[in-house]
Amino acid sequence: MTETYRSYRLAARPQGAPTADDFDIVAKPIPTPREGQAVLRTLYLSLDPYMRGRMDDAKSYAKPVEIGGLMVGATVSEVVATESDAVAVGDVVLGYGGWAEYSVEDAAGLRVLDPEVPVTTALGVLGMPGFTAYAGLLALGKPQEGETVAVAAATGPVGSAVGQIAKIKGAKAIGIAGGEKKVALLKEFGFDEALDHRGDDLRGALKAAAPNGIDVYFENVGGPVWDAVLPRLNLYGRVPVCGLVANYNGTAEFAPAGSMERVMRSVLTKSLTIRGFIQTEFVESMHDDFLRDMTEWVKSGQVKYQEEIIDGFDNVLDAFNGMLGGKNFGKTVVKIAE
Ligand SMILES: NC(=O)c1ccc[n+]([C@@H]2O[C@H](COP(=O)([O-])OP(=O)(O)OC[C@H]3O[C@@H](n4cnc5c(N)ncnc54)[C@H](OP(=O)(O)O)[C@@H]3O)[C@@H](O)[C@H]2O)c1
Repeated sequence: MTETYRSYRLAARPQGAPTADDFDIVAKPIPTPREGQAVLRTLYLSLDPYMRGRMDDAKSYAKPVEIGGLMVGATVSEVVATESDAVAVGDVVLGYGGWAEYSVEDAAGLRVLDPEVPVTTALGVLGMPGFTAYAGLLALGKPQEGETVAVAAATGPVGSAVGQIAKIKGAKAIGIAGGEKKVALLKEFGFDEALDHRGDDLRGALKAAAPNGIDVYFENVGGPVWDAVLPRLNLYGRVPVCGLVANYNGTAEFAPAGSMERVMRSVLTKSLTIRGFIQTEFVESMHDDFLRDMTEWVKSGQVKYQEEIIDGFDNVLDAFNGMLGGKNFGKTVVKIAE
């Protein structure tokens, strides 16, 4: 009998938070590789906020997942068959197998992982989220010694790296996160100030935490946190706009009328630089430096990381919604197989 594997296929475009009805779990025979390909068994699947955007068909920087298409995602996988010299059976690699138990991929695009660090780090601190923090902060935020850097979603893989890299560059780091337990985690990461955006008075807390104002706000969330940060930005402040996760489900009721006028007034009067980016822009120019620096920082303990590893293919959707809603502590990864 042919062995089969399961995958999540998009069945409908979600309205609000995705539900089980928006996906079909489809079983297919495990493929065999063609010339240049490898067949991979998924060990760990990365869950990232950008996946919510791929479920919609709104025009964006990347194509949406088609209805009936495989949900995309980075994976740490084991090579089980190969028709390429680039990888060998048994190698553990970083691939892009999606929400699936197996995948077939071009072997040349796979990264064989460093056995000296836990393989899941390739999905977080040493993977795309860590790179996003490194590139966005250094290329656009340009923190200087003695400046103040603020970031929200600050216990997540992007935010926690932003704060710690800011510290390495001699800046003061303010982390903003949801709830007391996350505030405690921010202190373990070494943030100078740790604020709860679910508290009563984020504006007041920011004023106390940043008496000299904020020079770099690394924007991960948007919404009320952005509203609270804007008045604290200093002259020549820089705002790398990385994500706006507070409303990826499209259900939030903020963005009051006239808010754009208020933002533009600040841009003008404070000579702000607000610059959106997608990390792929910097891969060619910065990825080698990132891997060198971040691997060294992780190995030396200068950069700490936290991962939330959830067990089982069946729990992928719950884990995804939990992460978007802030239930995760650190990088969200689903363990698909031993
Ligand atoms: N531009 C790029 O190339 C690029 C690449 C990677 C990631 N990103 C973006 O970077 C951001 C962080 O990604 P990540 O992987 O590190 O995510 P993450 O922190 O693991 O997870 C998302 C976090 O967002 C926070 N959040 C959700 N709703 C919020 C709200 N209403 N207000 C404030 N915070 C809220 C929650 O943290 P709390 O519980 O602390 O609120 C949640 O844990 C996302 O916006 C993502 O889209 C962009």
